[in-house]
Amino acid sequence: MSDQHDTDDASANEGGQSRRTFMKATGAATVAGAIGVGADSVVAQGQTINELIADMSVAEKAGQMMQPAIGSFDTATEEPFAQVDTIGDLFSELGTGSVLAGGSSPPTLDPEELVASINDLQEYNIEHSPHGIPFFFGIDGVHGAAYVDGATALPQRLNMGATRDPDLIEDAEEHTSDVIAATGCHETFAPTIELQRDPRWGRFFEGISESTKVLADVSRARNRALETNDRVTATPKHFAGYEVPANGNDRAAVNTSMRDLRETLLPPFEVALEEGGGMVMVNSGSVNGVPAHASHWLLTDLLREEYGFEGVTLTDWNDLYRMISIHDLFPDTEDGKRMAVETAIEAGIDMVMLGGGGVSPAQFVTFVEELVEDGDLSEDRIDESVRRILELKQDLGLFEEPYADESKVSDLVGNDESVRTSTQLARESMVLLKNDPATEDGEPALPLSGDESLLVTGPGVNPDGLDNRILMQHGGWTLGWQGIEGGGLSEGGPRPAGKTMMDVLEERLSAEQITHVPTTLDRSNWWAQPTLTDHEQAESTYRFTDHQRSDLESAAPDADAVVVVVVGEAPHNEGFGDRDYLRLPEAQREVVRTVVENTSDDTPIIGVEYAGSPRGGQQTFQHMDAVLFAGQPATGGGTAVVETLLGENNPSGRLGFSWPREVGDVPVTHNAWSGNLDDPLYPYGHGLSYTTFEYENLSVTPPKIGSPSAGQNVRVTVDVTNTGDLPGEHVVEVYNTQSYGTVMHPDRRVVGYERVRLDPGQTETVAVRVDLAALEVVPGDVPGLGSKVVEATDYELAVDPDGDMTTTLTVQGKGSVRRAGHVPGRFDVNGDGQVDVFDVMDIYHYTQHRR
Ligand code: BGC
Repeated sequence: MSDQHDTDDASANEGGQSRRTFMKATGAATVAGAIGVGADSVVAQGQTINELIADMSVAEKAGQMMQPAIGSFDTATEEPFAQVDTIGDLFSELGTGSVLAGGSSPPTLDPEELVASINDLQEYNIEHSPHGIPFFFGIDGVHGAAYVDGATALPQRLNMGATRDPDLIEDAEEHTSDVIAATGCHETFAPTIELQRDPRWGRFFEGISESTKVLADVSRARNRALETNDRVTATPKHFAGYEVPANGNDRAAVNTSMRDLRETLLPPFEVALEEGGGMVMVNSGSVNGVPAHASHWLLTDLLREEYGFEGVTLTDWNDLYRMISIHDLFPDTEDGKRMAVETAIEAGIDMVMLGGGGVSPAQFVTFVEELVEDGDLSEDRIDESVRRILELKQDLGLFEEPYADESKVSDLVGNDESVRTSTQLARESMVLLKNDPATEDGEPALPLSGDESLLVTGPGVNPDGLDNRILMQHGGWTLGWQGIEGGGLSEGGPRPAGKTMMDVLEERLSAEQITHVPTTLDRSNWWAQPTLTDHEQAESTYRFTDHQRSDLESAAPDADAVVVVVVGEAPHNEGFGDRDYLRLPEAQREVVRTVVENTSDDTPIIGVEYAGSPRGGQQTFQHMDAVLFAGQPATGGGTAVVETLLGENNPSGRLGFSWPREVGDVPVTHNAWSGNLDDPLYPYGHGLSYTTFEYENLSVTPPKIGSPSAGQNVRVTVDVTNTGDLPGEHVVEVYNTQSYGTVMHPDRRVVGYERVRLDPGQTETVAVRVDLAALEVVPGDVPGLGSKVVEATDYELAVDPDGDMTTTLTVQGKGSVRRAGHVPGRFDVNGDGQVDVFDVMDIYHYTQHRR
């Protein structure tokens, strides 16, 4: 470990070495720290932010607006950026305002070394950069701080959605925030605010739900939690529309409509941003023919003027250049790159993430200088961005204390409490898809009694002593971009906290009860995907060798055995995870076939699936008596799966997405407009339990309201009884299942939910707060420009999406709940969706009235 920068020491001795050096570098000896907050408060060198800006050259300002990627902490190391020889130059010559380590892959995975190295780098920056302005360090802590060895990885986002438990998610993410600060980082590129609408998309696992309401609630909770530590800013991403690429490929062009944007894609951002969020990361793709990074409407009219966002907007990786290489907005020349910089800044970008080499840091600085000099960009516009960046640094306390406290990290990383919370989330996220009787006694195949012999096989269990099946349990963004060590694990390599399913099975059952026949999983070939088709790549990831086949053939007929086949997907990310099909790869289907052919009809076959998408369908599931969809449950996953198989955890997760029968049905979502509804294999909200729940006495209070107004909600109550023999948790989800309007209402939509725990025979009256904002639609003709309203009509509400039991909420007059107003950037003054003479008349009446 290098030099220490323990802040306790620093304050104890009138400034330890780091503090002293900082003060010397900044001349801040007279300024003990920040006084107040804002552009007119003193931050450094006795200067206010505004004075500091006035003192900076345009080049320095451009430096503050950059976030280059670093691969190493060595300031003398060469970087892949043209015109800068070392990382050190980024600070001394270019005065870079921020750096990032992309892909959950910092230069060291050792948490203590990480914080010490970031402090070293900060010291170098303060000593060598023009005004000694502290940088902030960005990292992908997207499912927990799963970028350091031993960290508690939270269940991936698709599991979070299945819990419908934003409160527990919030608790878990508060720990993430503390670890981010303790490891010396300041910005996490989270929360991901993405709907799960297209399972072909390689980032489907990063979405929370196909329900706008559930995504909004969880995003609000995560955004709030990730900022609980004062030294950390969240970065809600990717603004906006990223999750619906037209062909399902990551970053492909998005075709959507104004109505779809305003009713479903944007509200979760709007809700999450109410909790702050110092930064926002922009969608790499294009929306309706405009790259998001070039959209003044998205980044300024909407984000700033409509939502009131005051923080820093950040590009995604290499996205200035993507306007050239993918979007063909400009030629691939110096001029083209300069135009890309101008366009992004004019649209509203404050900080550019520079990775991938398209535009180098030095080029960026030069372009900004030239653009200002030529009058193509005003210096005021540059100052505006720099002010936001410096204010964020001030909020994070960086001017006051630029160094992280190194003493906290060892106790925090992977501590027992965080493992407990993550495990509880994993338990709540277990979705039991199917549970049929395997034998003539008619009893469902699960739970197991614990006395059985088990034959365990499939790519999701670890072979040969190397626990690389932990990869499938965790997914991408875990100690590396594509998952741990890129999928080629080494003995003794870095691991998140937690146990595998096999670890836990071995703890719970005797060695004689478990027979394990491994099959092959090798994800280290992920990088070959651009040259292989998705199909070829997947086929080469999973193998079922002749030797494995003959082992399975001889083990399978054991009459007493229950066969547990662990299938699914290796970790993946971004374009490397895009899918051409949803069935399981051939080698896995072959494993299932071999089991079926070599066992008697009454041998229970249990499927456990670790995957980031709905993989597998009837071809495979028809052979299984029970199927547990475990998603990517991460640290607590091994425990949650085994406890569920053994009945110690009664599954209560509900699918956050509709499980398509075939890839050709995609998109299939419960909240589509009627006419778009295919019959899914498992509907949104599906999830079995080992007990049964019944509903009675559904009602809504009040049953009638006038015109809904801001923040208004109503309450649905229902009596829920546990009618089975086991205690269990249950998510009561309230849907609007029918209503009529001037425009189409979604077929069904979630308006509220509540998790409840009931003992056998117990009845509880569950009250669910119904969010009227979830009923808002955009009225008016096809362009979809009018003010969002809850329309005046009868709304049928149900607790079971297909249930007969409904209650009616009557809305007597239309009204806006979340935000009155037409589409921002338009002069549709009266909000009727048309820009016409009536708007001019409204302005006339308004001015007359004002007189
Ligand atoms: C991803 C972002 C991520 C960034 C930094 C990009 O490729 O789209 O979500 O935060 O890399 O790792």
